[in-house]
Amino acid sequence: MTIYLDNAATSWPKPPVMMEGMIDFNTRIGSNPGRSGHSLSIEAGRVLFEARDMLSCLFNIQDPMCVVLTSGITHSLNIVLRGLLKPGDHVITSSMEHNSVMRPLRELEQNGLSLSVIDCGDSGIIDPDRVRNAIRSNTVLIIITHASNVTGSIQPAGDIGRIAGEHGILFCLDSAQTAGALPVDVESMNIDLLCFSGHKSLLGPMGTGGLYIRKGLESRIKPLMQGGTGSRSEYELQPEFMPDRYESGTLNTLGIAGLVKSVEYILNEGVDKIRKREQVLVERLVSGLKGISGVTVFGPQPINLRTAAVPFNVAGINPSEAALYLDEMCGIMSRPGLHCAPSAHKTIGSFPGGTNRLSPGYFTTEDEIDAAVMAVHRLAALNK
Ligand SMILES: Cc1ncc(COP(=O)(O)O)c(C=O)c1O
Repeated sequence: MTIYLDNAATSWPKPPVMMEGMIDFNTRIGSNPGRSGHSLSIEAGRVLFEARDMLSCLFNIQDPMCVVLTSGITHSLNIVLRGLLKPGDHVITSSMEHNSVMRPLRELEQNGLSLSVIDCGDSGIIDPDRVRNAIRSNTVLIIITHASNVTGSIQPAGDIGRIAGEHGILFCLDSAQTAGALPVDVESMNIDLLCFSGHKSLLGPMGTGGLYIRKGLESRIKPLMQGGTGSRSEYELQPEFMPDRYESGTLNTLGIAGLVKSVEYILNEGVDKIRKREQVLVERLVSGLKGISGVTVFGPQPINLRTAAVPFNVAGINPSEAALYLDEMCGIMSRPGLHCAPSAHKTIGSFPGGTNRLSPGYFTTEDEIDAAVMAVHRLAALNK
């Protein structure tokens, strides 16, 4: 028996249409988009356009050409942070960030960037007033994760976006844990830069992701890479227009063909339905775990303040041992440790040991949740 509860790392299983889209691309199209003029290359280009279109629909983006397709959200975040920020700039972020935000920021800090990291406390939720109070005359960017991959804490992204807008500061959202699982609207949330992952709650393949850049901002963000784009080939300088400015080299069109189908699946199901289903599962999981003596569950209360990532510890058992037991003895896949977010663990008081994390997804069943709770019961009983 295998019970997969590691959807915060990558969603699995995927909707069957994802593989169907990839197989269809590989058997019927297979060509390099935008590089040749033949009909199959044009067909491949259409796949990219469909991806931009679907994603624009999901995130309420007005112009699909503002969607840059990348190899994943770490790539997208690096484009923003390395392309935009200069020594002397000030950036505000939260203490719940993943290392894909923290590491580039910390390196830029060593080269003259100044950084304010707002502590989010036990709940892992940022106080918008603290963000407002941290603003300085040289603040260029506010960047936060929409939801923590450690605690599932959902940040008040719309409020932060509004504060950024009022002060003429750019707002970048890391939606790795929320795109497809929670509403993300670049207009109503005033998001200037939206980084997203294809393989997590968008239910697509690994090696896909992207970045929305609000129209006009591309002139302020230098591309990370230069190279062939299939456009303006007569020039040896990188094209300045979107999205080619940031899309050098052959894209993962096979993966993107799968992502198109996954996003279409999400649009058909509806984000609200997905969110409601995940909340039912999380409620069952959190209340089950909380009923076990010796188990501490981390993260915000009530349930509507969190996504489907549930960190917990069992008294006297380290998270890695717990995960090993759950895997080897019960067939339950969880993730122990620091989850690439040491600062988040410092914030909730679980550093350096970390926690174990169970993260259900849209396809998880109630029976699987109950089996996981039962397994943690057995684990906790070992220590009595
Ligand atoms: C909040 C958050 N941001 C960024 C990332 C990085 O994702 P990837 O490794 O797929 O680029 C993750 C991955 O877990 C995440 O949870």
